[in-house]
Parts: sequence; structure tokens; C-alpha cells
Amino acid sequence: MRRLMVTGGAGFIGSNFVRYMLEKYPDDFIVVYDKLTYAGRLENLQDVAERFGDRYAFVRGDICDAERVEATLRRFDVDTIVNFAAETHVDRSLMEPGSFIQTDVYGTYVLLEATKKLGLERYHQVSTDEVYGQVLEGRSVESDPLQPRSPYSASKAGGDLMVLAYHESWGLPVTISRGSNNVGPYQYPEKVVPLFATNAIDDLPLPLYGDGMQKRDYQYVLDHCEGIDVVLHRGEIGEIYNIGTGSELTNLEMTRIVLRTLGKPESLIKHVEDRPGHDRRYALDVSKLKALGWESRHTCEEAIEKTVRWYAENEWWWRPIKSGDLYREYYRQQYGKRLAE
Ligand code: NAD
Ligand code: DAU
Repeated sequence: MRRLMVTGGAGFIGSNFVRYMLEKYPDDFIVVYDKLTYAGRLENLQDVAERFGDRYAFVRGDICDAERVEATLRRFDVDTIVNFAAETHVDRSLMEPGSFIQTDVYGTYVLLEATKKLGLERYHQVSTDEVYGQVLEGRSVESDPLQPRSPYSASKAGGDLMVLAYHESWGLPVTISRGSNNVGPYQYPEKVVPLFATNAIDDLPLPLYGDGMQKRDYQYVLDHCEGIDVVLHRGEIGEIYNIGTGSELTNLEMTRIVLRTLGKPESLIKHVEDRPGHDRRYALDVSKLKALGWESRHTCEEAIEKTVRWYAENEWWWRPIKSGDLYREYYRQQYGKRLAE
């Protein structure tokens, strides 16, 4: 029985994780602590509030706000923090890196300080394969050096290093997981699979960066959540665990799966100017987590198909986002010139 504070729990992976944990552990209590940035949405947790009202609470707050973090931990008698809260989109980190450094590095420090002060039983940091940098050959193992190349991945690497520093310096009971690209329900349609699926549904062009030969390991979000659950219950303190399918697709292959699932033509693909510093490939060795008994349940292809079907069946969720002023302004900045060329 655990009392968790899930930071960033109103976002894509966090909301899937909260639902997964409350379903699986009938004695657990979860308080979601989330700033509700553009990426955090209470709709993602609507059914959770209805189904698990007595074992679930929501607090709107910033992980950089030390007083509010501490007050929430005390109020709900939390023993474990699982930190999903972050600025997460690489393209936005190229437009405005400041909020990434603030939340992903400073915010992590605030949570670690609270963990230390209150003597919590566990702190888990949700990190990313991007901290290893691009991997042109072979696969990243957990002991590899960090070589992040974007403001997003550099900020996440900073967070990871701070977590490890608190473990070394004060013996904090920490674990870190590093996941590959997630796909699934409730992913904000700025990330490539939901962006391409929703554009294709509306017969709009799919802006594929550069040659489309970059490789990513697209994993189903619930496989990632299960991996974090295994680390929380069977992982060793002070250790890092990679989570992914251990295979990969090129972006062009991913795009073709999206189009095929929707029965749309490949003429919707539009090659556009590349992302600056675009990492060519990420690839994880996931044998350390597998040794704890975890196994990915979906291939990259199955994960993408299942996700695209969810977007086709859940227009209520993404249409209001895509038609909003905030999103349209972001789309204009990111794609206006690219698509006009
Ligand atoms: P997301 O962008 O969908 O959600 C992020 C959430 O964090 C939002 O609910 C947002 O409101 C909240 N948040 C942002 N800043 C905050 C702050 N200062 N205080 C409190 N809450 C704040 O992100 P996601 O894709 O669900 O990613 C979750 C975590 O998983 C991140 O740490 C990310 O780095 C990591 N990760 C993501 C992927 C992926 O493919 N999406 C893969 C590996 C790891
Ligand atoms: O690898 C894990 C990471 O995956 C997470 O840590 C990040 O939070 C998450 O955003 C994701 O990062 P990527 O940059 O890999 O994801 P994104 O969906 O932005 O892009 C996936 C690939 O698709 C990448 O090679 C860039 C390409 N792409 C993306 C967009 C948005 C395009 O070709 N066109 C696009 O419009």
C-alpha cells in the first residue's frame, strides 16, 4: 500500500500511469500535483476522478513552488513521489529553452529537497532515452555517458544528474527510468504520431522533417507505465532502468503506418525543413528491466495502429485543442514557413 504524489499527472503519460496504478493497486492513494500548462488537461483524468474519487485527489501547483510541494506532501501523508512533470517537446525547447531549465532541472531539485526534508520512502524520476544523445550504432545501456544535444534533453539530463547527486550525497532512495518515444491516448497533438493522425483525418499535409530516415522506438504508453511500476516495486535503489520495445522504425515507416491505418494516401506526406540538431537515432538496450520480469506487450507497429484508432474514435478530445488559439499560433510558428516552402 502506497501514498503517491504523481507530479505531471494531468499530462499524457502521467494520466495513463495514474489510471493504470489505481486500477492495479486497490489500496494505493494518489494525489496528482500538476501546474496545468498547455500540455496538462483535467479531461485526461475525468474518468479517474469519477471512478476512484476516494483514492484520488488533484492539486494544481508548480513543482518549482517549494512551499506548495511540501504542504501537499504533508496534507496527503505522501510516502512516494513519481515525477513526470516536465516541459517535454523538443521543438518548443528550440523556441524557448528557459521553461525547460526551470521545470526539468530546478523543479527536480525542489522535489528532491522535499524528499530529503520529509524523509520520504521513495523518489522516482521519469526520464528519457534522449539524455544519451543520438546513437548511430548499437544500443544505449544505463551506464553510458550522457550526451544530450537539445535544450530539452540537456534539461532532462540535468534533472537525472541531480537525482543521482542526492542519492550519492545524502542516500536518498531514488530510482530513474529512461523511456523511449511513447504513443497512446491523450498525447498532445504536437508530438508526431497524434499530429500526423489528426492531420491525416482532416486530409491535411503531414510535415515530415528532413529525409524521414530518423529512427525512433515507438512504445505503447501502458507498456512504459508497467515498466515504471516494475521499477517502483522491484527496482534497486540508486539504479537506472531503460524502458522501450528495444526495436525501432524510421519516421517514414511510422508515417506510412499512420496513413495505412486510416486508409489515407501517401500523397499527404510533405518533406519539410529539418529540426535543427535533429537526433538521427535513439536505441535502448532494455535487458536490465527485462531481468526484473518486465516485457513490452506491443511492437512499435501495434502501438502506432492502436494509437491512431484511438484518435479516430476520440475527436471530442483533440478537436478543441487543435482549434484553440494557443495551438493555432504554435502551429503557425512551427510549420507556417515550412509548409509554405
Ligand atoms: P506532457 O507534456 O504530456 O505532460 C507534462 C505534464 O507536466 C503536464 O500535465 C504539465 O501540466 C505538467 N507540468 C509541466 N510543468 C510543470 C511544473 N512546473 N509543475 C507541475 N507540473 C508541470 O508530457 P509526457 O509526454 O506525458 O511526459 C511525461 C514525462 O515523461 C516527462 O518527464 C518526459 O520527459 C518523460 N518522457 C516522455 C516520453 C514521451 O515520449 N512522451 C518518453 C520518455 C520520457
Ligand atoms: O525519445 C523520447 C522522447 O520522445 C521524449 O523524451 C520526448 O518528451 C518526446 O517528445 C519524444 O521526443 P521526439 O523528438 O522523438 O518526439 P516527436 O514526436 O517530437 O518527434 C518524433 C520524430 O518525428 C522525430 O524524429 C522528429 C519527427 N517529426 C516530429 C514532428 C513533430 C517530424 O518529422 N515532423 C513533425 O512535425
